[in-house]
Amino acid sequence: MSEQNPSAIYLKDYKVPEFLIDKTELTFDLDETQTIVTSRLHLRRNPESNSATAPLVLDGGEDVKLIGVAIDTYELPKEEYSLVNDKLIITATPNEFILTCETLIEPQNNTKLEGLYRSSSMFCTQCEAEGFRHITYYLDRPDVMSVFTTTIIGDESKYPVMLSNGNEIERGKTEEGKTFVTWNDPFPKPAYLFALVAGDLNVINDTFVTMSGREVALQIYTEPHNIDKVDFAMDSLKRSMKWDEEVYGREYDLDIFMIVAVDDFNMGAMENKGLNIFNSSCLLASPKTTTDDAYLRVEAVVAHEYFHNWSGNRVTCRDWFQLSLKEGFTVFRDQSFSADTHSSVVKRVEDVSFLKTAQFAEDAGPMAHPIRPASFIEISNFYTLTIYEKGSEVVRMIHTLLGEEGFRKGSDLYFERHDGQAVTCDDFVAAMEDANDVDLSQFKRWYSQAGTPRVTVTDEYDEASKTYRLHMSQMTPPTPGQPTKLSLHIPVKVGLVSANNEPLSFVYEGNTHDETVLHLKDAEQTFVFENVTEQPVPSLLREFSAPVKLNYDYSTEQLLQLMSGDADGFNRWSASQQLAVNELNQLIVQYQAGQTLSEETQLLKGFATLLSDKTLDPAMVALILALPSQAYMSELAEEIDPHGIKAARKHLRELIAKGLEQEFKVAYETNTTDGPYEATAEQIAKRSLKNAALAYWVAAGSDEAASVAVRQYRNADNMTDQFAALSIIVNFDLPEADELLNAFYEQWKHEALVVIKWLMLSAAREQENGLANVKSLMEHPNFDIKNPNKLRAVIGGLGQNTQAFHNLDGSGYAFLADQIILMNKRNPQIASRLCTPLTRWQRMEPELSGLMKAQLERIAGEDLSKDVYEVVSKSLA
Ligand code: TRP
Ligand code: ZN
Repeated sequence: MSEQNPSAIYLKDYKVPEFLIDKTELTFDLDETQTIVTSRLHLRRNPESNSATAPLVLDGGEDVKLIGVAIDTYELPKEEYSLVNDKLIITATPNEFILTCETLIEPQNNTKLEGLYRSSSMFCTQCEAEGFRHITYYLDRPDVMSVFTTTIIGDESKYPVMLSNGNEIERGKTEEGKTFVTWNDPFPKPAYLFALVAGDLNVINDTFVTMSGREVALQIYTEPHNIDKVDFAMDSLKRSMKWDEEVYGREYDLDIFMIVAVDDFNMGAMENKGLNIFNSSCLLASPKTTTDDAYLRVEAVVAHEYFHNWSGNRVTCRDWFQLSLKEGFTVFRDQSFSADTHSSVVKRVEDVSFLKTAQFAEDAGPMAHPIRPASFIEISNFYTLTIYEKGSEVVRMIHTLLGEEGFRKGSDLYFERHDGQAVTCDDFVAAMEDANDVDLSQFKRWYSQAGTPRVTVTDEYDEASKTYRLHMSQMTPPTPGQPTKLSLHIPVKVGLVSANNEPLSFVYEGNTHDETVLHLKDAEQTFVFENVTEQPVPSLLREFSAPVKLNYDYSTEQLLQLMSGDADGFNRWSASQQLAVNELNQLIVQYQAGQTLSEETQLLKGFATLLSDKTLDPAMVALILALPSQAYMSELAEEIDPHGIKAARKHLRELIAKGLEQEFKVAYETNTTDGPYEATAEQIAKRSLKNAALAYWVAAGSDEAASVAVRQYRNADNMTDQFAALSIIVNFDLPEADELLNAFYEQWKHEALVVIKWLMLSAAREQENGLANVKSLMEHPNFDIKNPNKLRAVIGGLGQNTQAFHNLDGSGYAFLADQIILMNKRNPQIASRLCTPLTRWQRMEPELSGLMKAQLERIAGEDLSKDVYEVVSKSLA
């Protein structure tokens, strides 16, 4: 690493800002080679600071060149300010003044994609979390909120569209004949919500009438060739606006709401006030180019960014340690929206499956942190699954504890009390407590403790007294910096199931229930149920009421019973997963011992029942049929053996495929959709089951199934069916694989988002020369290292390619390390995210573990960005 290692900052050191900026006036003179930014900051000392003489310290960046600085009309000579570690420091200032700053930046050379940069033909910005300081010197922290007025000057022939936050208030020509446009955003906001876009863009227009009858103009902008792919996003936006009015009573505030799609973007999308900027992969959708999954993602991300207008913008974060205040809450809101729009059980299974695979792994690794971290080196590293997904689970638990109405009372109070403020997670919980007169003090430990709690359950039934007891214990394992943990308040939703699959009612604390929420608060606790007429099978943690690892020693028969008979749809899935996990674990042990793998599986019985039950939602059936993923099995393993997991999964899949070949054929044939493509829950459900059935049918090995897959590929009129068929053809290495992979590329080479799918599938393809193939993809004329989507597709594909990535010669890991070292300079945010697989080195089987560690050590020897330094040094600590 370097001489001077970057150091951490701590939540406990929070201090209010020394200055406030009431108004921010910006002028951007856009140009191909240099952009001049002039800022006029209306500064005054913060009355809440206890220093009356503190210097003014503005944040800047190594890429910002200061041309001149003035206080009111006084141009500061060099002696009266200093530039230290990218900060502009002025020791002597009046108490209230206007600071004018002129800076020069080069957006065309900005490869980090934060601040102002070029993406294809346009200028765009990304300011969260600390990107604004790469535009001009500023108090770049979320508790400094200011009213922004922005003037953009540019050549109208190149940049006919010039956008910023709020409303357009003026437009005209400069003396040199350039065009200027001035925007004003009346809502005070932190700099991270600033946005600017300029380019030759097309737009579609729509309107939304709010609940109080105001008409809001809606606009979505894209490059001209993509404007035919925004109808679904527009529709999703209008439905999100309506939903937030109905469910949270939240109305949109400005007269205009704009969204812009850009190709080069580090993350999914950004909620800039009145001017959301989206990664085009999260906005564009058309039946021929977009899969069902991607449609659902567009809908969820549009909703997420829109919902931020209240949970994030109107009420924002005091500091970045509070990131989950806006992200956890907003993810909870977008998940609820999608659940209400489609099937809530299906949505819950998908979200939980993702959480248990990816967030649990993060919580068990060297980067484990609470949803409100106590320290960080680089905030960009904390846009994590823990902040987002576990953060959402914590909000969901509050919802479970308070109920729908209580939660709404709490959110109303939160928005009302803190509108226009920058606040903390404590403020959020306090509003929930005050509105409901409850005490959530023990619950709040979820905000400060990292790690996934283990909940262990045993039970006993007393026939004579008809009493059933559940004994529960909880334990949260140590995480870096947190060796010991306190007991959490864990809501455990339970029901009881009878021998013939009926819900068993019970008396708990004097009331009769079919289902109840138990409050597990102590290290060990016993819950007593009365009037239980027979020995029940417990259905525990229904709807996944808490983000914990639950352990109850279910027999195979009990799991099969819950799988078909539990009243809770989520737990039916959960039981089937547990059953499959148990079998896979046995197969892994056999594989590692060099034994022949067992030819028997209990899943056949369960799956057969499932496939014959016409009353079930096909999407649910498809989810149950999906075997636990490679990633999920890795998360569960004591010691990860990727080759063993892969072999076990392949074996079990073939057993099921052969055992139910006829059933899969029938499921394939009966789940075709008719009529034109629609991204409706009903059609999506049928396609998911149809394609899951096709994969099993092909896995059984018949020529008939293979030719059906090829036919589906050729006849498909939508990307979901075309790509599902192609994936099956490639993954099962059917003879047509090479030909069709090439044909697919030729057909879609002008659609960037489809090329991304092709890159991913190609990189993931398991074959002899897998790594050489991945390398050649990165040399492909349509590959572009500047585009994070393409890089992620290839590297993500490689990560799924067990043979190539986890090769025992270490070449896969070395190649990944090369890319990290390259991207460390170009784009540190992306580089740091590429490190994730290597951070798991301590969980890998010894040989692979050593190879991974060696690559981390090689990276550590480089001159590292803060981003990569933090992840690598914590992984090696
Ligand atoms: N606030 C954005 C969201 O979750 C996240 C985001 C977008 C982001 N782009 C970023 C975070 C760049 C860090 C860096 O909706
Ligand atoms: Zn967000």
